[in-house]
Amino acid sequence: MSGKILVTGGLGFIGSHTVVALQQKGYDVVIIDNLSNSSIDVLAGITRITEKTPEFEKIDLREKSSVKDFFEKYTDIEGVIHFAASKAVGESVQNPLLYYENNLASLVYLLQELSKKEKANFIFSSSCTVYGQADELPIKEESPVKKAESPYGNTKQIGEEIIIDTCKVAEGLKAISLRYFNPIGAHDSAEIGELPLGTPQNLVPFITQTAIGKREQLSVFGDDYPTEDGTCIRDYIHVMDLAEAHVAALTRLLENKDAPNYEVFNLGTGKGSSVLEVVNSFERASGEKLNYKMAPRREGDVIAAYADTTKANNILGWKAETNLDTSLASAWKWEKKVKEKETEQR
Ligand SMILES: NC(=O)c1ccc[n+]([C@@H]2O[C@H](COP(=O)([O-])OP(=O)(O)OC[C@H]3O[C@@H](n4cnc5c(N)ncnc54)[C@H](O)[C@@H]3O)[C@@H](O)[C@H]2O)c1
Repeated sequence: MSGKILVTGGLGFIGSHTVVALQQKGYDVVIIDNLSNSSIDVLAGITRITEKTPEFEKIDLREKSSVKDFFEKYTDIEGVIHFAASKAVGESVQNPLLYYENNLASLVYLLQELSKKEKANFIFSSSCTVYGQADELPIKEESPVKKAESPYGNTKQIGEEIIIDTCKVAEGLKAISLRYFNPIGAHDSAEIGELPLGTPQNLVPFITQTAIGKREQLSVFGDDYPTEDGTCIRDYIHVMDLAEAHVAALTRLLENKDAPNYEVFNLGTGKGSSVLEVVNSFERASGEKLNYKMAPRREGDVIAAYADTTKANNILGWKAETNLDTSLASAWKWEKKVKEKETEQR
């Protein structure tokens, strides 16, 4: 391999695990992160796992001139995996312009630089949120994109459109959008994991924080949905499986195996699990009893979403391998490690 892989948001949850997977496959990685939702300590965690420290540039991608300067300094970037974004759905409703600026301006500045290159390979973090409540389950890539429920969701839809339009005219640019279902868990070394700021928006960090005593009780929003046990269904994918899918997608682009110059893949396990199934699985995997209560439905939650993964399985040659119990055991191991570190620092 000659060039380097730029991972934006590479110190974040999914980015850091992907950097591990890339380095373990022999890729040279440069990370851009502004540390708005991550810590510089993550770099040491990556190094402990892979025995290699990726290059790191503290850059805010909203600064167009910094993005330009970066590509002037690093002329040998072969591929870009773009994770950097703001991701809290509720916050995006409160502060839409922050989300449109951070998630879209950054994307535009990156694509402007990549369009100048003879050859560029780009992978975009999209989300199953683009499907809304899909009419058919499991969800295929051809399922219609529904009107976004939040500014965050809208940035993913518009982001994909910006890439499609750019690929039509930028001759050397090839891109893949990966629509993630629900990433959970941590690297099994517990050297890196998810570090939610404030109250977690997602189920699994809320569960682990409740079990460790940081939160008093988990509220299960809605037990009267038309599902077997009445709670919502999602497709929970282990973050290292997700990371490996990025390596597979990148390899496809670098080896010119992609057919059109823009493709979309769902990344999930293909299996839906209800909130109560996740709670039970967590109790089994951790040996802890979880304090939870049933609560009214939460606005904007879709009833059920899980992926048809046939396209990713067949074309990327990738499949999620980790089951729910193992994923939750890794999340629990990470939460305990976070607590240990916090206790040491006191
Ligand atoms: N975690 C999920 O449930 C989920 C689901 C679907 C899609 N996604 C998408 O995947 C991507 C990664 O998500 P994550 O969970 O790892 O989030 P994260 O917040 O842990 O990581 C994002 C990283 O990007 C950095 N960042 C944000 N804005 C930046 C900017 N302007 N310049 C430089 N760095 C910046 C943050 O500091 C952080 O380290 C995001 O695009 C997110 O929307 C996440």
